[in-house]
Amino acid sequence: MMTKEEMIREIQKLKKEKDAVILVHNYQLPEIQDIADILGDSLDLSRKAATIENNMIVFCGVQFMAESAKLLSPDKTVLIPRADAGCAMADMVDKEGLLKFKADHPNAKVVAYVNTTAETKSITDVCCTSANAVKIIQNIQAEEIIFVPDKNLGSYVAKFTDKKVHLWPGFCYVHDQYTIEDVKNVREKYPEANFIVHPESPAEVVELADSVESTSGMIRFAKETDAKELIIGTEIGMLYRLQKEVPDKKFYPLKEDAICKSMKLTRLEDVYLSLKEERYPVVIDINIANRAKHALEKMLELS
Ligand code: 13P
Ligand code: SF4
Repeated sequence: MMTKEEMIREIQKLKKEKDAVILVHNYQLPEIQDIADILGDSLDLSRKAATIENNMIVFCGVQFMAESAKLLSPDKTVLIPRADAGCAMADMVDKEGLLKFKADHPNAKVVAYVNTTAETKSITDVCCTSANAVKIIQNIQAEEIIFVPDKNLGSYVAKFTDKKVHLWPGFCYVHDQYTIEDVKNVREKYPEANFIVHPESPAEVVELADSVESTSGMIRFAKETDAKELIIGTEIGMLYRLQKEVPDKKFYPLKEDAICKSMKLTRLEDVYLSLKEERYPVVIDINIANRAKHALEKMLELS
């Protein structure tokens, strides 16, 4: 059995040998965040994936993120160390259902959160992330929009436009569990703290926040605010990065058990084996890939 230090050394060695880069989402376990070449939110990681020069990308996150990297960099080998790391929200929309929804609203353009499968993206006009959703809704040339799959992010962005927005009833089980009571309780405990929340949270919770941010937006906000304490309304993996990068401030989770199970699957050993055995390569059907890529590129163009 290798020690943690040996495994990290092996990972660095394999990375050099194979000309690989490790992209890591902000919710990953501390041991994975610590070996990241790039750590970020979905938008940071997509932008990076689109311009990467290395031969290989090891994507520590969930399937839709690794798929997006492959769509934007089709000539590279993109590996996901845990093939079973899905996103429950991405699975809430399927092709047949979306085609039917489109038929019900024939004048609407489809904006899909990146938290969707490549197949969903292939019947989408433009993608968005939590960091650029408002901009995309405002910039898209359409008076009517279908927004999939997150009803919470969709209703949040709808407030920033006069366009008609049709919502799909999807949600993230990690964020959708937050209640007004949770906010009241933590605010009572830390009355001086600012409260920042991810827009996947329910509208009544978002309304109580001092700021609504993507996961990387939370880092920027925490650095810039005068507040010395912050309540964090998102997956608890975020707390590690915040504490590391903004050590002079205190961070409290809105809820201790806001945990994305899929984000916690990837361990150092998985990354090591992924690099060593080149597993698990992301493969996307060519007929789906071309159209899905277009929706992602449109997002990068509009944001
Ligand atoms: P970010 O793009 O803000 O990192 O969010 C991704 C996600 O899956 C949140 O649950
Ligand atoms: Fe999907 Fe929610 Fe996990 Fe983000 S936190 S990857 S939206 S299940």
